[in-house]
Amino acid sequence: MKLRRVVYTSKATSQFNKRDLLDLLHDSRAYNSLDHISGVLIQKDGYFLQIIEGESDKIIELLGRLVIDKRHSHFNIISDDIVDNHLFSK
Ligand SMILES: Cc1cc2nc3c(=O)[nH]c(=O)nc-3n(C[C@H](O)[C@H](O)[C@H](O)COP(=O)(O)O)c2cc1C
Repeated sequence: MKLRRVVYTSKATSQFNKRDLLDLLHDSRAYNSLDHISGVLIQKDGYFLQIIEGESDKIIELLGRLVIDKRHSHFNIISDDIVDNHLFSK
């Protein structure tokens, strides 16, 4: 089955402390594991870079939730590719 891998950057709308980030990671991992989505999230100096990979329909659904999430703005897709394998473990 073909996979979709999307890389995006965004800007945090308010300062994320460790607790905020842990909550976000906790929820994201729970959702992502149900949807067989893998990836990585990097946060630095008020910006995010995230790689998400999984079945195309699931990635589109997640993108739909991400773009309306008020915790970040300046949503910018860097790459969007159909790929053969996961780069990150689930
Ligand atoms: C920087 C950032 C990264 C996120 N990454 C994910 C993610 O990988 N998976 C996910 O399900 N939600 C992620 N979210 C949260 C979603 O935007 C959304 O709040 C969550 O999926 C719950 O959606 P719901 O409120 O419609 O149920 C992320 C949010 C932010 C701000």
